[in-house]
Amino acid sequence: MPELDAGTELQLALFRQAVEAGSDGVIITDATRSDQPVLYVNPAFERMTGYSSDEVVGKNCRFLQGDDRSQPERAKLRRAMSDGLPCSVVLRNYRKDGTLFWNELSLSPVRDRSGKTTHFIGIQKDVSARMRLEKALQDQKEQLEQATRSLSRTSTHDALTDVAQRRHFLDTLGREWKRASREGAPVSLLLIDVDSLGRINELFGHEAGDDSLKRVARALENVLKRPADLLGRYEGETFAALLPATDRKGAEQVALEMRATVSGLAIDHPGPAGRLTITLGVATAFPGPETGMEDLISHAEQALRAAKELGPDRVHVLAEM
Ligand code: FNR
Repeated sequence: MPELDAGTELQLALFRQAVEAGSDGVIITDATRSDQPVLYVNPAFERMTGYSSDEVVGKNCRFLQGDDRSQPERAKLRRAMSDGLPCSVVLRNYRKDGTLFWNELSLSPVRDRSGKTTHFIGIQKDVSARMRLEKALQDQKEQLEQATRSLSRTSTHDALTDVAQRRHFLDTLGREWKRASREGAPVSLLLIDVDSLGRINELFGHEAGDDSLKRVARALENVLKRPADLLGRYEGETFAALLPATDRKGAEQVALEMRATVSGLAIDHPGPAGRLTITLGVATAFPGPETGMEDLISHAEQALRAAKELGPDRVHVLAEM
C-alpha cells in the first residue's frame, strides 16, 4: 500500500464514516473475479438483511433472492454488469429469518485508469412500505374499475338473465335501423316467448322458474353468432333478438335453431311436451320512407301473436316489409 498524505487519509476516514453511518445498505464487489464476490458490506446492510459481514463476504449477493429466482430484473442486472454500466432495479429479497423485503438496488461500476471495471458498488434501499402502498393502490384501482364495469352493465343489462334490458335493446335497434337505412340492408326482429313459464313457477317455485329463464337466455345467446346480433329481455317471459343485415330466410333459420336448442335443454316442464319450449314470431323489414322501426316492432308482435294462436313450440314468420 502506498503511503497516504494526511489530507487523503482524513478524507478516506470521513468517507468510511459516512458509509458506515448511512441508513442505506452498501455493498462493494470485486469485478475482476468471476461471479462478483462481495468485498464489503456496511452495518445498514447487516441490519436490513440480518446477515453479518462475515457471512456475506466472498459470496455473490444472489443468495438474498432465496428460491425466488424468476425475477426479470436479474437479466437487467446481468446486462448492465457485463456492459460495465450503472443500473437500478427492485428485487424481492429475503432476510436471514426468511421474511421478504423489496430491495431497490442501484449498481454503479468503478473503473481504473485504463477504463476497466474493477468493482461494483451497490446501494440498497428497503422499499417494502412503498411497494405495499403501491399494491394496495393498484388493488383499489382494479376494484374501482370492476365496480364501474359492473355498474355500467347494470344500467344496460337485465339483472336476472344478463341479457340487454328493453331500453338498451330498443336503443341498439334504433342505431341498427339507421345504419340499415343508410346501407339499404334488411333488419330482422324475433320475439321469443317462453311457453307457460308460469306453470313452472306454480309447480316448482319461482327459483326454478328464474333458473329456467336464465338457462333459456344462455341458450338463445349461444345461437347468436355475429357481434352485432343482440338478445334482450323484451318483457317478463319474452325475449327479443335483433339480427341486423339478416333477411327473412336467415331470420327463420335462426328462429328454428333457437326453438330446437331450447327444446334440447330438456328443462322439465309440466305441460304436454314434458319439456320447456319457446314460441317465436319473426319479422323482417327494409327501412324506408314508408317503413319505420315501429312497423318492424309491431310486425314482430303480430307474428308472435299468430305463432301463439297456433299453439306452443311454434315459429311464425311474416312476409318481408
Ligand atoms: C448485486 N446483486 C444483488 N442481488 C440481490 O438480489 N440483492 C442484492 O442486494 C444485490 N446486491 C448486489 C450488489 C452488487 C455490487 C452487485 C454487483 C450485484 C445482484 C446479484 O449478485 C446477481 O448479479 C444477480 O442476481 C443477477 O445474476 P444471476 O443471479 O441471474 O446470475
